Amino acid sequence: MAIERTLSIIKPDATRRNLTGKINARFEEAGLRIVAQKRLQLSRAQAEAFYAVHSERPFFGSLCEFMTSGPVVVQVLEGESAVAKNREVMGATNPADAAPGTIRKDFAESIEANSAHGSDSLENAAIEIAFFFSGIEIVG
Ligand code: PPS
Repeated sequence: MAIERTLSIIKPDATRRNLTGKINARFEEAGLRIVAQKRLQLSRAQAEAFYAVHSERPFFGSLCEFMTSGPVVVQVLEGESAVAKNREVMGATNPADAAPGTIRKDFAESIEANSAHGSDSLENAAIEIAFFFSGIEIVG
């Protein structure tokens, strides 16, 4: 299996409830290594740029509003099959559909305030990592 990197975001609902450490523990217990991490307050323009792929979806405005409602923690996770493993640890987008023991089942408040984002493919991971980090900020 290949060592991959993926982009993770701990969302405002989770930073507001001081859950960063608990969520990071889930990643580390799953064998993922946090090789870059920073806490940011996203601007509206940054949120809209990051989620541009969803700009035609009905929830786009609300999603961008939510993602700028408080701090986020953006991070690069590294490990074997990191993209798929991260999505497994996060659970389904809608917490109502998420499997027991996943981050979203245990912490998410709603399909919008769902505590964590993870890249959905290796190709998008590279794009999303480059959106937030320069090479010198990632230390494997
Ligand atoms: S995914 O993860 O891309 O397969 O999921 P998707 O359903 O395409 O959702 C993409 C992101 O949009 C958020 N989302 C919503 N926000 C607000 N309201 C509604 N109804 C809604 N449905 C989906 C969802 O949390 C995803 O956010 P990210 O940050 O990509 O996980």
